[in-house]
Amino acid sequence: MYKIVDKKNLAPNIFSMDILAPRVAQSAQPGQFVIVIADEKGERVPLTICDYDTEKGTVTIVVQSTGCSTKKMAEYNVGDYFEDFVGPLGQPSEYVNEDLNELKKKKVLFVAGGVGTAPVYPQARWFHERGIDVDVIIGAKTKELVILEEKMSKVAGNLYVATDDGSYGFKGMVTNLIEDLVKNQGKKYDFIVCIGPMIMMKFVCKLTKELGIKTIVSLNPIMVDGTGMCGACRVSVGNETKFACVDGPEFDGHLVNFDEALRRQTQYKSEESEKGGQHVC
Ligand code: FES
Repeated sequence: MYKIVDKKNLAPNIFSMDILAPRVAQSAQPGQFVIVIADEKGERVPLTICDYDTEKGTVTIVVQSTGCSTKKMAEYNVGDYFEDFVGPLGQPSEYVNEDLNELKKKKVLFVAGGVGTAPVYPQARWFHERGIDVDVIIGAKTKELVILEEKMSKVAGNLYVATDDGSYGFKGMVTNLIEDLVKNQGKKYDFIVCIGPMIMMKFVCKLTKELGIKTIVSLNPIMVDGTGMCGACRVSVGNETKFACVDGPEFDGHLVNFDEALRRQTQYKSEESEKGGQHVC
């Protein structure tokens, strides 16, 4: 059993929770995820790691209550226990194994969309701890959906916020802001890490391909059970078939067949709604 030791409301229907899981906190690396099972009848819910504290032994997850399982999880409070908390799973981000001196010469941009801001935070923190300043864009539909801005501002070299409706920061999509930074402000990036909704990652990759900037994406949104068993996260990367939960979740975004991945995601959503949204409730 895994105790919830802190809970914060970040935005409407979006919560962060600190879970006491010392062994997971000890070995977590940027890019990895955990599987949470709320109670003995609960589904396996793969969630990205938003933060980890090796001294306190805690791992922070961010839950957006959209489906049955995440709604149930969001009802848990400080002092309650999750049935299981498995991880860290998946491959760490590829730069973790890069030569640090080489990495220090590179300019990196992180692009976070919505709750995708959660997995971007530990990555930006990883760079900050090694004395590397990275630029970060947080994108959201509206001001009230911008999450983790203050936390991110402590680890980002430059932090930019974009909202679709212009209620806060730059008015427009993250793709508009990337174009502005690169074309108008003369920013140069060696690579971009983009994490957010599939459709956002698709269009960011379309743009960065034109701009000639290598882009890594995280395909955690298409994971279902996170075990390599259900096949839901199967995706074509270049000429190869990959499983996001086992081979990823991070891949070269310019090689990912987003249309296929989006079709599969839509198929699972419509199957869920055919069951009245009662996804194993
Ligand atoms: Fe089920 Fe990857 S999420 S196989």
